[in-house]
Amino acid sequence: MMMTMLTLHQLGVIVWIGGMFFAHMALRPAANELLEPPVRLPLLHQVLKRFFLWVWLAVISILVSGFWVFLGIMKGQAPMYIHLMAGFGLLMAIIFFYIYFVPFRAMGKALDQNDLPAAGSRMVMIRRLIGVNLVIGLVLAALGGLKLF
Ligand code: HEM
Repeated sequence: MMMTMLTLHQLGVIVWIGGMFFAHMALRPAANELLEPPVRLPLLHQVLKRFFLWVWLAVISILVSGFWVFLGIMKGQAPMYIHLMAGFGLLMAIIFFYIYFVPFRAMGKALDQNDLPAAGSRMVMIRRLIGVNLVIGLVLAALGGLKLF
């Protein structure tokens, strides 16, 4: 059971962090360089719409498996890095929920109304927040791999 949970944990982490890394470090700069806002913003919105469906699955899988092992199996008696993972993992999930329900939803509405400046400013917000989650996620993944303290 523990191995199944840790596998789900790892798969969720790969999908979420890997997807954020690709979107932030490769897709977004290339789209900014090559595409004008009327094409770029709807493209990025469609990309995020598809990616976020998988992020929902990944977040649920990471939180359920993580807390199952941390509280169910370890009874909360775990090394420091797991406590950090639990706290900062929850913070990442809250940031994702915020992105999804606030700027991402507003960006969709702005695009429906052909309001490109509003859609663009929501995209800036989404990019910043994904940047924050990417940094926290990479640090947590490193802590999980190193099992430092
Ligand atoms: C997105 C946030 C998270 C990331 C990037 C992350 C990453 C990792 C990584 C890389 C491992 C090591 C996997 C292995 O070597 O098998 C791990 C293990 C673990 N994580 Fe997370 N994790 C996150 C969130 C959470 C949350 C919210 C919890 C809840 C308490 C949690 C609890 C655990 C536990 C209990 C282990 C097993 C440690 C062990 O094998 O002794 N993680 N995590």
